[in-house]
Amino acid sequence: MTGTALPQPADLFALSTDRIRRAAADLWPDEPLTLGDHVPSVTGYVRRVGVGGRDLFAKDSVLGLSLVSVLHGLAGDRDRVRATQAAYATSPASLLAREAAQLRTLDAAGVRVGHCAGYASGVLFTEPVTGPTLADLITKEPARTLDLLTAAVTGLEGLQHPRVVCQVDAAPIPERSIDGTFRRKFNGVSGRIYIGRLGLDRLDERTCQGVAAVVGTVVARLLKLRLAPPIGPTVIVYGDLKPEHVLFPDGPGEAPVFIDPGLARGPAHHDVAKLVSRAFLMLIAAPPVDAPASAVVDGIAAFVADQTRALRGTLRGRWLRRLLVTWLMDTVNILSTYLTAPTELPLPEHAQTVFDQAEALCPVLDQVSAQLVAATDPYAAWQLALRAVTKAAAR
Ligand SMILES: Nc1ncnc2c1ncn2[C@@H]1O[C@H](COP(=O)(O)OP(=O)(O)OP(=O)(O)O)[C@@H](O)[C@H]1O
Ligand SMILES: [Mg+2]
Repeated sequence: MTGTALPQPADLFALSTDRIRRAAADLWPDEPLTLGDHVPSVTGYVRRVGVGGRDLFAKDSVLGLSLVSVLHGLAGDRDRVRATQAAYATSPASLLAREAAQLRTLDAAGVRVGHCAGYASGVLFTEPVTGPTLADLITKEPARTLDLLTAAVTGLEGLQHPRVVCQVDAAPIPERSIDGTFRRKFNGVSGRIYIGRLGLDRLDERTCQGVAAVVGTVVARLLKLRLAPPIGPTVIVYGDLKPEHVLFPDGPGEAPVFIDPGLARGPAHHDVAKLVSRAFLMLIAAPPVDAPASAVVDGIAAFVADQTRALRGTLRGRWLRRLLVTWLMDTVNILSTYLTAPTELPLPEHAQTVFDQAEALCPVLDQVSAQLVAATDPYAAWQLALRAVTKAAAR
């Protein structure tokens, strides 16, 4: 292989495993380390490990970027990635150094998070949080959707605690901003090249062309829409509030525990948009077996109505519109990440169900974005969106 070769998953994983070994030896020099299963992720390298008698999760990040971006050469060739990563891992500003600090601050402020067991040389170790995720529970008990989503938002009220605000202002994780990610991916010529690559390795030719055409149209619409000024105050947002990051170790009626924070200042609708985006995506990709999809959609609709209840007049409509735009951006972000992932990169199970239903998802993205550019009344657009999702999930 020449010096200009793109990084390969096996190389990156070997380097990450090596960093995990060295970090564990720094933190716990007298404890033996055992390496467990790799947890497939498009973002970082996550692996179960045993340290002494303890089971932990070890996470390594390559330059704070997603693995998919690094594999496409965004950070340069294999040798360059290796060299820059060696420096990045020891920087106090590295992504996982900030995540470790955020976990510790959240814990101290009374927000229930997976405990940070240690951080060294770019590697974060966390104690396992057991129990079903919000995603598992919605699929299993759709009638609880409203209560579960509400518990997720309520469990994060402590984010506005002065201690958290102060820590986040010193070391935010802006990498998880939906709007920021969308702009990074889709701006300009590189954005158009990226859309042209969607699904080439993963979908058959006809599906691939159809999906790329719809995503191209939706992205063009969203790029126009995102020029609208943001509304409301910026607050501290969780960042990557997807249903897989909310676990219920004490059962569905008790307070959840959160993993993988990406705290930063952001608009108040950000976390709700992430939850809604991923709950809809999950519903379309893998609808509940024993209940109609409408049970989940009704729960999400009631949750969003609750979230906007305190807003008055035009603010409420604008909030809903921002929610719709941010939902679509997040869905396009994750769909395109999955669809451009090299085939050698092991993907989470969820990704395959998304590939299988990409064609069912496209009309939803198309119809909702068309309403947004036509400046349809936001309530009417939201009702249409709910019907489109129900239809896409009903089969
Ligand atoms: N402390 C923990 N307790 C329980 N599960 C964990 C823990 N840490 C990681 N995991 C599991 O590993 C997955 C990936 O970990 P994490 O979300 O921290 O990494 P990531 O690289 O950001 O991945 P993703 O892009 O999937 O969010 C989680 O969704 C979860 O299933
Ligand atoms: Mg994560």
